[in-house]
Amino acid sequence: MITSTDQTVLVTGGAGFIGSHTTLALLQAGQAVVVLDNLSNSSAQSLERVARIAGRAPVFVQGDVRDRALVQRLLREHRVGAVLHFAGLKAVGESASMPLTYYDNNVAGSLALCQAMAAAGVWRLVFSSSATVYGDPATVPIREDMPTGPTNPYGRTKWMVEHLLGDLAAADPRWQIGVLRYFNPVGAHESGLIGEDPRGTPNNLLPYVAQVAVGRRAALSVFGNDYPTPDGTGVRDYIHVMDLAEGHLKALQALADRSGLHTWNLGTGQGYSVLEIVRAFQQASGRPVPYQVAPRRAGDAAASYADPSKAARELGWQARRGLTEMMEDTWRWQSLNPAGFGGG
Ligand code: NAD
Ligand code: UD1
Repeated sequence: MITSTDQTVLVTGGAGFIGSHTTLALLQAGQAVVVLDNLSNSSAQSLERVARIAGRAPVFVQGDVRDRALVQRLLREHRVGAVLHFAGLKAVGESASMPLTYYDNNVAGSLALCQAMAAAGVWRLVFSSSATVYGDPATVPIREDMPTGPTNPYGRTKWMVEHLLGDLAAADPRWQIGVLRYFNPVGAHESGLIGEDPRGTPNNLLPYVAQVAVGRRAALSVFGNDYPTPDGTGVRDYIHVMDLAEGHLKALQALADRSGLHTWNLGTGQGYSVLEIVRAFQQASGRPVPYQVAPRRAGDAAASYADPSKAARELGWQARRGLTEMMEDTWRWQSLNPAGFGGG
């Protein structure tokens, strides 16, 4: 049990990719869960599948995290003891063309949530931040105390919320806040029933590769092969979404006897190049993944991977699933659900 027995965890954005896997992990740990999601980037089907796997369902409320009165009511009615805050928008390119929408959902949404929490007397919060706050890192592996400096509006929304939360924690010792900086979440639950279901053309590597392998797209564009990395393509720290989900449970437990704001990297500490991913996916799926080399994508770092030792030390957490499992689980989800949740 994460909270005391009569308390609930509120999961904002719980119908989405990472939120649905974490909701499942909470339910399987015996925790009562309320999900608040406006379904702007997800389907309620994900929660039906979560219920199928867990054998019991979370309470689902379709609504917006910016609706302070609604959030306050949920916190009270469900005796919420802690909040996992996933709700937000995450497409880097879109954030540059729609900054108002991004600041509103991500920054104003987090502000409204914190106001509702303070009013309801709920002080334990875990926030989904991103390695994107490090911008183009000067050195790798990246430690939490290294300089931040996001290079796009999405990253700046995460960075601003981190600062907002730091100011809250400094002002009132009742706050117990965990900031989790995820590296590159991939994979899916081993059942193949839930996974990442991006709308439109995927922006991220793994969903794109998976859609090429399943025949939905012709070929992958590899964004640059002239980086100062072993094979010239970008290196990232891919982490299995179930490892990430377990990291949230550990963070909630660790916060129970900690006050203030604590920042933890969630990554494996191991980097893989784009071409290594392509090869690993071909191996796992038994399908070809044709690709062509394209120009670099603006704003991309050559290499980004975590030093995850602070999470290991303070949370007793480390990623357990390796590259093969990440690829096999992505492929199981993609091949069983070629059209995502839209496929029924
Ligand atoms: P996702 O889009 O699958 O999930 C986000 C969920 O939040 C969706 O279900 C969406 O409908 C909901 N939502 C969006 N705005 C909302 C609002 N105003 N009110 C209520 N619900 C709202 O994304 P994800 O990959 O699961 O990411 C979850 C969180 O983790 C996000 O905050 C994201 O920025 C962060 N993050 C993701 C990654 C990644 O690569 N996936 C990396 C680092 C950080
Ligand atoms: C991107 C975002 C980052 C965000 C993260 C998770 C940018 C600049 N960064 O990170 O802010 O937190 O997603 O949502 O968008 N690649 C290809 N072809 C593709 C797609 C990607 O070669 O079609 C390469 C990229 O150049 C990169 C690697 O694959 O080297 C991983 O890309 P991606 O999955 O988009 O993640 P990040 O760039 O790490």
